[in-house]
Amino acid sequence: MTVHVKQDKPATENRLDTMRQGVIGKPVSRIEGLAKVTGTAPYAAEYPVEGCAEGVLVTATITRGSVVRIDAESALAMPGVIAVIDDERLTTRPAQGTANEAPQQKPRTICYWGQPLALVVAESFEQARDAARLLVVEYQPDEAAPVEADPSIAEEQEDETVREGNLDKAMSDAAHAVDLTYTTKGHASAAMEPHAAIAQWDGERLTVHASLQMLNYNITELSDALDLPEDRIRLISRYVGGGFGSKLGISEEVVAASIAAMQLERPVRVVMSRQQVFQSIIRRSETTQRLRLACDTDGRLTGFGHEALVSNLPGEEFAEPVLQSSHFLYPGENRELVLKLARIHRMTAGSVRAPGEAVGMPALEAAMDVLAERAEIDPVELRLRNIPDKDPEQGLPFSSHKLAECLRQGAEAFGWDSGPRKPRMRREGEWWIGTGMASAARVHNVAEAKARVTLKADGTALVETDMTDIGTGTYTIVAQIAGEMLGLRPDQVLVDLGDSDHPRGPGSGGSWGAPSIGSAVYVACMAIREALADTLDIDEAALALADAKAGNGTPLTELLGGKDLVREGHYEPGKITDDYLASGFGAFFAEVRVNHYTGETRVNRMLGAFGFGRVLNAKTARSQCLGGITWSIGMALTEALEFDPRDGHLVNRDLAEYHVPVHRDVPDLDVVLVEERDAAASIIQAKGIGELGMCGGAAAIANAIYNACGARVFDYPMTPDRVL
Ligand code: MOS
Repeated sequence: MTVHVKQDKPATENRLDTMRQGVIGKPVSRIEGLAKVTGTAPYAAEYPVEGCAEGVLVTATITRGSVVRIDAESALAMPGVIAVIDDERLTTRPAQGTANEAPQQKPRTICYWGQPLALVVAESFEQARDAARLLVVEYQPDEAAPVEADPSIAEEQEDETVREGNLDKAMSDAAHAVDLTYTTKGHASAAMEPHAAIAQWDGERLTVHASLQMLNYNITELSDALDLPEDRIRLISRYVGGGFGSKLGISEEVVAASIAAMQLERPVRVVMSRQQVFQSIIRRSETTQRLRLACDTDGRLTGFGHEALVSNLPGEEFAEPVLQSSHFLYPGENRELVLKLARIHRMTAGSVRAPGEAVGMPALEAAMDVLAERAEIDPVELRLRNIPDKDPEQGLPFSSHKLAECLRQGAEAFGWDSGPRKPRMRREGEWWIGTGMASAARVHNVAEAKARVTLKADGTALVETDMTDIGTGTYTIVAQIAGEMLGLRPDQVLVDLGDSDHPRGPGSGGSWGAPSIGSAVYVACMAIREALADTLDIDEAALALADAKAGNGTPLTELLGGKDLVREGHYEPGKITDDYLASGFGAFFAEVRVNHYTGETRVNRMLGAFGFGRVLNAKTARSQCLGGITWSIGMALTEALEFDPRDGHLVNRDLAEYHVPVHRDVPDLDVVLVEERDAAASIIQAKGIGELGMCGGAAAIANAIYNACGARVFDYPMTPDRVL
């Protein structure tokens, strides 16, 4: 039996607050943690499969053109080589209008350096890898292949454009104004687990173990790519070693393994090398952003301008949504927000770790710091004076808004000095010391979700959904919600995720996972509670469940009378998404030291205060925030995809050359969880948290660099050469 709830109104009354178990919000450790740290949790490539052949992808070494011929003779002559799969369907990207839809008789189109072309399958991985090197690919290169964004031919994204009032006039009339241009480099998702798939074909049905974030639509993508009905495909992603956007969609390893398994009628494993993950999977677009801010003598914004230039491949729709939070974070009647997309031949640009705000907020919040300096207002105070009481563009009410609390509580916990600020005031030996802060904002998303909950005759519970846990804590919060609602401890709830044969969850992306799947589990558990209350002939609200017993002392097992009780919850966000503007908010505070001689910046300490609705698990939520702050350090100081301007190939294709922050770069981090209930965000009053932690943090570091040594840097990452 399925219970469908479409949320049209705020869920002001909520059972989670009246339950007696008290497990919601508690810092419960990950229920799958032991399996992960002991190596017994199998990741995609690790499933033991009898007779599995190994596939290695071969990728393009030109930026733009076509494949004339692939000569597989030498490769096929190598020991152990089973086949060379040269199939147009293998190239799943770019998705629109280019390779995929090219008519069969036309030569295959190359759109970017590193585009997968073929798969070499052998008995062992080493044999496949060696043979892959011998594949001869003859290309017909195109001459002009733009690899750098040209603003003069970029397309304006009309959906994103807002022009209200007269920004030019507001700028010239303003008591204080800034007009600054920032740049950010491209980013890689940089998930620890590389893309991998094992495909098995039994003649009827395809089973693929893969590392994916969104099984609910990955199955549709794979069905389209293979022209095989969805009910003949099973996708399994029980453990995912990080996604960060790179596994939102299926990639070539999944398609290639599937085609090979079906053609060869034996299981095939394809694991991308780290270099392939970097050069063939999505990138975050580089950006150029112009910020124009105008304020009156009190620091109240009268004009707000944010223009951004981003890039993608020809035919691709995605444009890094740089302005996403700029539309509502600050007021200013005279507004100009413009997003432009240039077409260039680098790999597909897509969602990487908080698409939009991750790069938009660092530019905006660095410009706010310059404005605060010009207006001689404390940066925290400047933000407090610019909190709109409703969405400044559409006039919608905010579902809830904790920016002021985050700024105040964060400043307090950090020990923010609100006295006059001047650079170069503190020096310790070779190091200039400084502090900086920034606001955080990240839109809240919520998605349709289904989950099946079984209260078993033995008094334990089972939750089944195709929802994934990409390291975020989904297993644990699902167990907590079901446990809380059904009077069980989290360890009495078995959570079975990441199997496309289960009801369709929302997938892990856009930070919507917890609020969406949590709401579906809640709906299913409410239905189970109703059924139990019926048995006792009482109102559901009067049903007190704790320690696997009803309030009158009857054990759940007795109430169930030897039968399982199964309910499917189907949650769908309704009118709430039109009636409210929902966002997570926060504030970052950083202290850095900058070396006087080398320009090296080190973060001494950093704190983030975040408000994102109900905290479902204080430990996993905090971990998400710590991860986000860590990525902010990377964005501020080290992370940058570097492309060769001559041919557009990605130069730094591994974790040795693409610098993510490591332990030595990450100091003491502190997180303040500003608890709130957001009834219009989801039925469980929770909002997304995963991405908020990196939306603006880089600006706190940039602003601290200025406060330390007096260098205003306008280009991220702020490497020593730029700081000196
Ligand atoms: Mo996220 S970048 O939507 O996985």
